[in-house]
Amino acid sequence: MPHRLRALSGGLATAALLAALSAPVATATAAPAGTVAAPAPAPAPGPLAELALRPPMGWNNWAHHMCDIDEAKVLANADALVSSGLAAKGYDTVTVDDCWMEKTRGPRGELVTDTAKFPHGMAWLGAYLHARGLRFGIYEDTGSLTCERYPGSGRPQGGGPDHFEADVAQFASWEVDYIKMDGCNVWVAPGQTKEAAYREAYEAVARAVRASGRPMVLSASAPAYFQNGEWGSRDWFSVLGWVGGTGQLWREGRDIQVYRPAAPTTSRWGSVLGNYGYNRWLGRYARPGNWNDPDFLIAGAPGLTDEESRSQVALWAMMAAPFILSSDVPSLTPAGLAALGNDDLIALDQDALGRQASVVATDGSTDVLARPLANGDRAVAVLNRTATARAVTLPLADVGLPSCSVRARDLWTGERSTVRTRLSATVPAHGTAVWRLTPRGCLAAVPTGQLTGAGTQCADGDHTGTAGTLVLAPCTGGADQRFVLARDRTLRLQGRCLTADGEGAALAACAARHDREGGQLWRARPDGTLTAESSGLCLEAPAGAAALRLRACGDHLVNQAWALPV
Ligand code: GAL
Repeated sequence: MPHRLRALSGGLATAALLAALSAPVATATAAPAGTVAAPAPAPAPGPLAELALRPPMGWNNWAHHMCDIDEAKVLANADALVSSGLAAKGYDTVTVDDCWMEKTRGPRGELVTDTAKFPHGMAWLGAYLHARGLRFGIYEDTGSLTCERYPGSGRPQGGGPDHFEADVAQFASWEVDYIKMDGCNVWVAPGQTKEAAYREAYEAVARAVRASGRPMVLSASAPAYFQNGEWGSRDWFSVLGWVGGTGQLWREGRDIQVYRPAAPTTSRWGSVLGNYGYNRWLGRYARPGNWNDPDFLIAGAPGLTDEESRSQVALWAMMAAPFILSSDVPSLTPAGLAALGNDDLIALDQDALGRQASVVATDGSTDVLARPLANGDRAVAVLNRTATARAVTLPLADVGLPSCSVRARDLWTGERSTVRTRLSATVPAHGTAVWRLTPRGCLAAVPTGQLTGAGTQCADGDHTGTAGTLVLAPCTGGADQRFVLARDRTLRLQGRCLTADGEGAALAACAARHDREGGQLWRARPDGTLTAESSGLCLEAPAGAAALRLRACGDHLVNQAWALPV
């Protein structure tokens, strides 16, 4: 069972939490720059990080019931979390999503529970959950209306006072432990940017949570309102840079496809791959207290095969994603239940280091992921996107463990083996193999893998015919895209060093140690930029097939952001 910070029901805040509650709102500032060898940390986590030092776990009704929600359904799922044993494994936060309230506020401006749906009210529901060792989560919105047009907490359209403090205080009085703050219908004042409006609103919510005196986890949906495909836009990266100063987790993109009772067998696998797709590049923002949330686990629910259910659990665990089920817990498939309850996968997801996996290599058919773990182990996963089983062989050096043998544990079968040079497995169609590797008698792992840039393309050393030139090209998983972020802060490809020369960057023979200031030392920053230490210029992907170049660092420029190996 994972070690998790238990619910602080009834406002039993620790001294640290009380101090955090009275601290000023963190403004997003650039964290100290990291180095290439130890990839840059995400921006410092915001206040109340202690509430979510591990990715939150639990259940939410939305992807199964949507607005068709009531007390009986919430209780049935909460009870099933307990009776299935999932609650004891950490799935403990039960969140009521949109549509729980009346369409208008009460006489004192308060939110009014729809008692046709929740006859005993919300304080009663919270007490019911707490009595079973569960935590209570609730949905609201930073805009004037929720996405389903119930009263939101934000300013009305046209401007005016918001309800953040009063609404959050109302939640605290119901002993809520977790607030999912959505971002529909946020009022953008004339002359204000959309980003500034969201930032103002989410910072106000964060202040209200602290002012409430109750330690409540805040799930902030702001980035999801700026998503623009997989690689994103300047605004999206900018919002991702500050959202961790407001909440402990954030939705950064599209919803997972919901269950449709009228078409229950509709496949939802494409949606799982889509959400994995945008989340896999965002590891730089994740750390204990701050988590990327690619949306709900629908493993074991209609729309996924057993293999696809296992894949979702493995991919979400590799990405340190919140493990929030959104399904009918009493009718989870046996395979889904087994995957969700797999202790090794839960421990992987909840690993104390809090590092999200990076993509080592992707070629459109298979993705290889690697993730460093707190005890020095390294998790490796292989996703097979194709409709047929695939045999894969992975030299250990390619996943960052050169000159190494490892003890390998297959997290699906539990099988242990000694691996001297290469991992091999047959990965079923739509399946994901996942191992936990314990290095034996070798140095720590070295971040190894592709350097992913604008348009989810790869820095590539072999496509121009000009020796030493690097271009951005489709990712192939090939050796000419496998970089090593060496401990000496060089960035190496097939034994050569990335070398800055004025506004150019090319591969050259690695210089003797004392000569490397001559352009071979690199620094990764929390905003995803990679700078040459010699000049402070940023590695930039040009349009077309031109060579990568160095330019003055801009403000969250899409073509200056890189997803690096970890
Ligand atoms: C969406 C959100 C969903 C659900 C829904 C409720 O914006 O992504 O998870 O909360 O609103 O209306």
